[in-house]
Amino acid sequence: MRHISFDFNKAMGSLSQEAFMSYEQPVAEALHKLHKGTGRGNDFLGWVHLPSSISDSDLDEIVETAVKLRKACEVVVVVGIGGSYLGARAVIDANLNIFDAYETKRTSPAVVYAGQNIGEDYIYELMEYLQNKEFGIINISKSGTTTEPAIAFRLLKQLLESKVGKEEARDRIVAVTDAKKGALRKLADQEGYKTFIIPDNVGGRFSVLTPVGLLPIAVAGCNIHKLVAGAKEMEGMTSDKVPFIENMAAQYAAARNELYKQGKKIELLVNYNPKLHYFNEWWKQLYGESEGKEHKGIFPAAVDFSTDLHSMGQWIQEGERTIFETVVSVEKSKHTVEIPFDKANLDGLNFLAGMRVDEVNKMAELGTQIAHVDGEVPNMRVSVPELNEFYLGEMIYFFEKACGISGYLLDINPFDQPGVEAYKKNMFALLDKPGFEEESKAIKARI
Ligand code: PA5
Repeated sequence: MRHISFDFNKAMGSLSQEAFMSYEQPVAEALHKLHKGTGRGNDFLGWVHLPSSISDSDLDEIVETAVKLRKACEVVVVVGIGGSYLGARAVIDANLNIFDAYETKRTSPAVVYAGQNIGEDYIYELMEYLQNKEFGIINISKSGTTTEPAIAFRLLKQLLESKVGKEEARDRIVAVTDAKKGALRKLADQEGYKTFIIPDNVGGRFSVLTPVGLLPIAVAGCNIHKLVAGAKEMEGMTSDKVPFIENMAAQYAAARNELYKQGKKIELLVNYNPKLHYFNEWWKQLYGESEGKEHKGIFPAAVDFSTDLHSMGQWIQEGERTIFETVVSVEKSKHTVEIPFDKANLDGLNFLAGMRVDEVNKMAELGTQIAHVDGEVPNMRVSVPELNEFYLGEMIYFFEKACGISGYLLDINPFDQPGVEAYKKNMFALLDKPGFEEESKAIKARI
């Protein structure tokens, strides 16, 4: 069986074998902490053994609910933000036909998103679109108190109930939330919605392999059994029993930390496949929220090539030398498209006639890699045999595991996010939320 693989050869110019191997011991210690639960944030390690602990009956229950929603709905709105949104979107976009979104005669419901912003025009236009659609809602919030999805859900619930009545709406709403706590749990119990539980010990950004990600992914028509099988495979390949020289998550964590030590403070996750745009977004959250603490941490940025070579390419080639790239390279595309011969050849492209579009893309990738390495941008590569659920499952677990190891190498707690509370506190104070009276006075005095 083939797997995704990690290769840091083009970073080796900056990374000596000696420097790289000096991480063998610290990485083993980080892995030990993750597996034995002895490191910081150890009450949020449920994701480490998640793939191997999901049973077929757990998956079957999710699929059963997904089938009901697929039958009842032309459109399913996934309400959530951050870790309660990005994983599902990453997998769905990577796996499905991009132009299905514009298809009116569909075999699967269209999956659309809400609660990931507070844009008034966005929610207005979404509700206008839903007005004459048979739609359902998956409302996802671990805390059950996040403002953005709560506002969206309040609006969408009212719209749905006014369209189909309270009883039918109840059958088309599923809540994914905490087992006991939070406003969404209370609401779901009161209204009698079907619910799925987010385990206490799995944080938002590590939750794509719980119902948070699995339910929307199944609704969109992807195979969640294969996704979990891929993740499970990677769980085995990156366990604490696998030595450093064979453990790709350990190697990626070591390489990026050594580059960081050398002043490469920005990591660009690069793809050459537009289907991976939201995978980049998921990865940015995973690493940004896990590592950006105590005034430390690589800044995770992401680009879609070759698109962004025409916008960010100049900076990457010749700007400040503080970046390195991790390229997610998909070896084989799903479809074949050949560039046709043209008699007039006015565009001068006949030298490409008969070539597949992907062959051109691969040369763009290789040419860029060489140019960027020449421009002192270390390059690492994650090779993916093809984009399907199995390999996406491998990629998810690979990046999660490397993130846990990397956070411990950095000596921070990779599993909390105290920094995201600051804006919420100010927003509530500015909005005069009950309980924030003192903060309201203080903040209003400053503006
Ligand atoms: O990773 C995280 O913890 C966050 O991004 C959360 O997922 C996000 O803030 C949404 O939180 P909740 O699921 O509680 O609504």
